[in-house]
Amino acid sequence: MTPRMSYTPLDLPVRPRRLRRAPWLRALVAETTLRAEDLIWPLFVQEGEGLVTPVDGLPGVNRLSIDALVDAAREAAALGIPAIALFPVTPPEKKTDDGREALNADNLVCRAIRAVKQAVPEIGIVADVALDPYTTHGHDGVLGADGDVANDTTVAVLCKQAVTLAQAGCDIVAPSDMMDGRVGEIRTALDDAGHEQIAILSYAAKYASAFYGPFRAAVGSKNNLGKADKRTYQMNPANRIEAVREASLDLAEGADMLMVKPATLYLDIISDVAQASDVPVFAYHVSGEYAMLKAAVAAGMLEEKSATLETLLAIKRAGASAILTYAARDVAQWLKE
Ligand code: PBG
Repeated sequence: MTPRMSYTPLDLPVRPRRLRRAPWLRALVAETTLRAEDLIWPLFVQEGEGLVTPVDGLPGVNRLSIDALVDAAREAAALGIPAIALFPVTPPEKKTDDGREALNADNLVCRAIRAVKQAVPEIGIVADVALDPYTTHGHDGVLGADGDVANDTTVAVLCKQAVTLAQAGCDIVAPSDMMDGRVGEIRTALDDAGHEQIAILSYAAKYASAFYGPFRAAVGSKNNLGKADKRTYQMNPANRIEAVREASLDLAEGADMLMVKPATLYLDIISDVAQASDVPVFAYHVSGEYAMLKAAVAAGMLEEKSATLETLLAIKRAGASAILTYAARDVAQWLKE
C-alpha cells in the first residue's frame, strides 16, 4: 500500500481530528478491520480421553485429547473462526531419529483430523508439515552424517508426510520446516496422489526466533532439542531482503498462501512480503508473543482486551490477511460482544 498525499490548500486550517470525532465516524473511516474470519486457532492435541491439560507458560492454552479438541473445533466454528491449526504432542516412546511416526496414517494428528472433519465438517483444518513433533533430536528434519538437517532427504519425507495428512482429510498443509525446494516437491506429491485441491500454506519467512520457546515446551520438543538451535534452516532475524527471496521461491514452486513468522517483531517483513506477492499472506503470532502479552496482563501492566486487539490489528495493518493466534477464541468472543 503506497501512502498517498492529500492536497489541502495550506491557507485553510487542516483538521484531521474532524474524522476522529465520534465512534461511528472512526468506524466509517477505519482502514483496517479485525474479524473472527481473519483468525486461525492453533490447538495442541494429545493422546487420552477427556483431557484438557493447561500448558505451562501459555496461560489459557491447553493440550486437548481428541474428544476435547472436537469440542474446541465446534466452539471455534460457532464463533466464526474459519480454521484451526493442529499440533500433536507425540508420546516420547513414539519419537525416533528419523521421525517415522509422521508417516503413520493412524498417528495422533491423523486421528485428530478425521475426528474433527467428521464432527465439524464446516471448519478448515491446517496441518503442519515438519518432523519436530516426531524426532528424538527435536529438529524439523532428518540429520545427515555432519549432524545438520539433510535437506533433500528431509524433503522426500515431508512429501510423504503431506500426503499422509491430506489422506487423513486436512484442507491445508503448512510446511514449517524451511527446507529448500520443499513446496514444489510437496505440490507434485499431493497432485500425484490425487490431492490437487489441498492448498499449501508455506512458512516462507520463518525466522530462527527465541519466541518459539513456549510452543516447544507445549509439544514436548524443547528437551529433545536441548541446547541445539535451528539456525541452519530458519532465517536469521537480521535479514529482511532474504524474506522476499524466500517468498518468491515458494510462490514459483506453487504455494497458495505464504506465512511470515513471528508476527509483531516482523511487521516490516509482513509488509514487504505482502507487497511483493499476489497471494494471501498470513502471519503467525507465536507462542512467545502471546506469552509476553499474557505476562504483562497478569502483572497488571496491560489491559488484555485492548492490548490484544491492537496487536492483532497492527499485524493486519502491516499486510497480513489472516493471523494464527492462541488468542483466537478470546478475540472472536470479544468481537462478538
Ligand atoms: C515446528 C513449529 C514451530 C512453531 C510452529 N511449528 C516451532 C519451531 O520451529 O521450533 C512455533 C509456533 C509458536 O511458537 O507458537 N516446525
